[in-house]
Amino acid sequence: MIGDIFEELELLRHEVEACSIEGESGAEQFRQLYLGSKNKLKPLFSRITEVEASRKKEFGQRINSIKQLAEERFEAAKQNASTSGSKMDVSAPDMSLPARDLSSGSKHPITLVMDRIVSIFGQIGFEVAEDREIEDEWHNFTALNTPDDHPARDMQDTFYLRDFTSRLLRTHTSSVQSRFMTSHKPPIRILAPGKVYRNETISARSHCQFHQVEGLYIDRAVSMADLKQTLLYFAKEMFGPETRIRLRPSYFPFTEPSAEMDIYWGLKDETDHRITKGTGWLEILGCGMVDPAVLSNCGIDPTEYSGFAFGMGIERQAMLLYKIPDIRYYFENDLRFLRQFS
Ligand code: PHE
Repeated sequence: MIGDIFEELELLRHEVEACSIEGESGAEQFRQLYLGSKNKLKPLFSRITEVEASRKKEFGQRINSIKQLAEERFEAAKQNASTSGSKMDVSAPDMSLPARDLSSGSKHPITLVMDRIVSIFGQIGFEVAEDREIEDEWHNFTALNTPDDHPARDMQDTFYLRDFTSRLLRTHTSSVQSRFMTSHKPPIRILAPGKVYRNETISARSHCQFHQVEGLYIDRAVSMADLKQTLLYFAKEMFGPETRIRLRPSYFPFTEPSAEMDIYWGLKDETDHRITKGTGWLEILGCGMVDPAVLSNCGIDPTEYSGFAFGMGIERQAMLLYKIPDIRYYFENDLRFLRQFS
């Protein structure tokens, strides 16, 4: 019997807790049910006589706490109705609302372009090789035939780490070449996408951090013709089948001969004139035949093997493809910019 009355109390407490109260009329209904002159608590109050003496106190406390709960809920409901002016009970979830979209992020334009380059070269057998961004001077410069007094080593270009002698932030992905050649035997056919750093003044056209994709192919009898054909294939896949390329002689310490590759972008509008400085041609990458000295530095016999290498910047290509006017947008993480690529 006593067990029953405590159970009834528990049920009533649940009822008061769970009762949904909507608007002013709901609050009034609630008041009548649990606080009015004929409220549901009253009969229980009078049944205190059924409770054995040792539990009367507990019974009184419990029933009073239910009454207090009802008062609190009523006050809150009244306030709610008057402030929101609505008939809704904000404490209860509205099951009729449409589900919220789970927004999935978008790929960064740099990642989009890198992925595309990786897949274009993947089709002709180039595998991705990645390595560290904090490099030593040997892999970034010395192995790549860049003499100690080369201006690229200067503090003006290279970020050296203060606490480590000869540690630096890699200035190009060519460091992956020396890493890979010293640990693998030819044939080597890799593509190394990654971030690089140079101490340059930040402007609309240049930044102190940017991305490159490096390519390296070493085997027996690899020639300049292979390089040119590979790059032509890439340019057509990347910029369309009509794309024309030209190779201009250039200089890099680690390739001999060296060249820069331009693509013909044309002069369709004002932006094109600005990007190509009115020539229609745009420089896309540096390349060349791997200097035999680099091969020997990395433990590959230059009398047996030859190879080509190329390195291209990603930011500029993404600027072309997506008509992005300022390189700084890439690193600001402004959602208004990033959402345009979803
Ligand atoms: N590492 C060169 C650069 O950063 C690009 C390059 C790579 C040139 C490979 C030739 C061969 O400018």
